[in-house]
Amino acid sequence: MKQEQKDLKSQLVVVAGGAGEIGERITRVFLQQGARVLVPSRSKEKLNALRASLKDTSTGELLPLETDVSTSEGLKTLSAAIEKEGVLRVAVNSVGTFWQGPSSLDVPVDEVQRVFHETFFPYVGLTQTLIPALGPGTHFVKLNGLLSLQAMPNVSAFGVSATAQMAWTRFLIAEATASTPWITELVIDSFVRTRSRTLPEEYISADDIAHEILRIVTEENQHQIATIGKGPGDAKVEFVPLRPQASEKNLKRLFGSFKAMG
Ligand SMILES: NC(=O)c1ccc[n+]([C@@H]2O[C@H](COP(=O)([O-])OP(=O)(O)OC[C@H]3O[C@@H](n4cnc5c(N)ncnc54)[C@H](OP(=O)(O)O)[C@@H]3O)[C@@H](O)[C@H]2O)c1
Repeated sequence: MKQEQKDLKSQLVVVAGGAGEIGERITRVFLQQGARVLVPSRSKEKLNALRASLKDTSTGELLPLETDVSTSEGLKTLSAAIEKEGVLRVAVNSVGTFWQGPSSLDVPVDEVQRVFHETFFPYVGLTQTLIPALGPGTHFVKLNGLLSLQAMPNVSAFGVSATAQMAWTRFLIAEATASTPWITELVIDSFVRTRSRTLPEEYISADDIAHEILRIVTEENQHQIATIGKGPGDAKVEFVPLRPQASEKNLKRLFGSFKAMG
């Protein structure tokens, strides 16, 4: 069902990771809609670079916030800034990094722990900060990569975190109530053209992703896990909602067993 929620003028939007490659384009698209966009970053230099790269955007208001969203102090600072700025309409989580290394049997446990710690727990903290700040009918959108759905060699430490992040989103959706914002996890299943990664025109761009997020938060009215991608051979951006992996009957049976166990 579509909902009339198009006007983002003066609305408060948080883009966590907004000083990053894809985040910058998401921030730009919301500013173009006249939104006030709060962007937390650990780095003053990155926030200055973001401001400089957005200086051609005359609408909206950029609200840079120097803070580390992977710490509980940083999340408190983010919460306080949201409270000060008013009602939150959209939150996007474009926080992320990448890791490649030895195979699953060779990677040191400490390294798996470090990668998991630096990538999974910031997502948990951000959801616990941003989702309660969003009201019903608003939107929370999280970016992820194909490793959340598919295993490949030599990326296991990162892949288990991507998979865990996806699982966390599924639990958030399973626990959603009438006052929970609409939750979308958007799995990017191709390379992305960004400022620093120049790829042929056929690949999906950070702008394509930003515009899809804008479409979701202004038109969609549901919780969803979806993939987005485009590459050589494809004519246009493909957005595909993913089916649940277990049948409804089996899920009901298991849920019934949990209930019976008290
Ligand atoms: N680029 C791609 O080709 C691609 C493909 C598939 C999926 N994705 C996903 O899309 C999202 C954005 O990707 P991107 O390429 O734009 O990433 P990016 O340029 O590396 O930026 C991500 C942002 O995440 C923040 N960040 C990373 N690790 C953090 C940590 N431990 N604690 C706090 N903040 C942290 C950084 O914030 P600071 O400003 O504080 O440094 C950075 O600005 C990620 O979830 C990524 O997995 C990207």
